[in-house]
Amino acid sequence: MPKDQEYQPLINNPTDDGVPPPSKPAWTSHFSRTVLAGLLIVESIALAATIFALFSRVPPASYTVALDSQRVLYSPALEAVEHEVQVYHVGFASDLSPFQIPSSPALDRMWSELYNFGISRITKDEAARLPNKTHAIPGDDGHYIAELDVFHNLHCLNKIRMALDPDYYPDWRISTSNNYIPTQTNATEHVAHCVDWIRQSMMCNGDTSVIVWQWQDFQNTTMVKGNVAHTCRKFDKIQDWAKGHRLQNEYDPTVHIEDDIVVPILHNQIP
Ligand SMILES: *[C@@H]1O[C@H](CO)[C@@H](O)[C@H](O)[C@H]1NC(C)=O
Ligand SMILES: *[C@@H]1O[C@H](CO)[C@@H](O)[C@H](O)[C@H]1NC(C)=O
Ligand SMILES: *[C@@H]1O[C@H](CO)[C@@H](O)[C@H](O)[C@H]1NC(C)=O
Repeated sequence: MPKDQEYQPLINNPTDDGVPPPSKPAWTSHFSRTVLAGLLIVESIALAATIFALFSRVPPASYTVALDSQRVLYSPALEAVEHEVQVYHVGFASDLSPFQIPSSPALDRMWSELYNFGISRITKDEAARLPNKTHAIPGDDGHYIAELDVFHNLHCLNKIRMALDPDYYPDWRISTSNNYIPTQTNATEHVAHCVDWIRQSMMCNGDTSVIVWQWQDFQNTTMVKGNVAHTCRKFDKIQDWAKGHRLQNEYDPTVHIEDDIVVPILHNQIP
């Protein structure tokens, strides 16, 4: 029986003396007004509890969400994007990353292996879908030059790292008074460009992974815990894409090739 019919008398006639109106089913007259009021309260509580339980129930996978509806600018490397959970190294003595070794040929090699294949060749169809126009590769018909920004970011961070150890990397010593740079016309300028590029990249990517505080028995205090889970793009997949799209010949930047690719001007909005 629907409950609005069952409880209508109390709601409609709050001041009556408990005598049901003629249209009421006869059995309701056996209930005293007090009993009906009690039932109403009990059911209201049960309903509230049910609603609360429905909304507060935590499904097992509630620590992930779908972001399918997002649109992003085209990149030929989007096909390589896969996600995974990664826990960062904290980077202090108890949890150093393999990159935290002194400047050395071994460290230079590790950095180089992150991005030394980072200039790519893409097809004309792919180039035509880019939000910015890029140039054809002389001597590689139908192919265009491209660099994924992650590799430029890594190159930039590597230069900042070198500037921080000027005794080992004298070319990257930054100083306006003593700036002898055989390979760089101005390392100060290059490093400043890199710092600001990485700032923009971090703000662009806005990592919302959550760093937490946890209780430490041995210190009787809560402490910030850096080794938390992050949603990451699988770096090795993006590396594989770049390795599969390596330039096949030396790129000659002095050759100008005209083409018919026209890209639309976007005004900050994603199409
Ligand atoms: C290098 O660039 C910095 C920053 O733009 C500038 O202040 C400095 O004068 C430049 N140094 C030389 C030697 O050109
Ligand atoms: C932490 O607090 C507990 C309870 O007060 C105490 O027994 C313990 O000695 C404290 N430990 C440290 C390292 O201060
Ligand atoms: C790249 O495209 C954006 C959006 O249309 C535009 O604002 C920007 O000036 C372009 N940059 C180059 C180098 O073409």
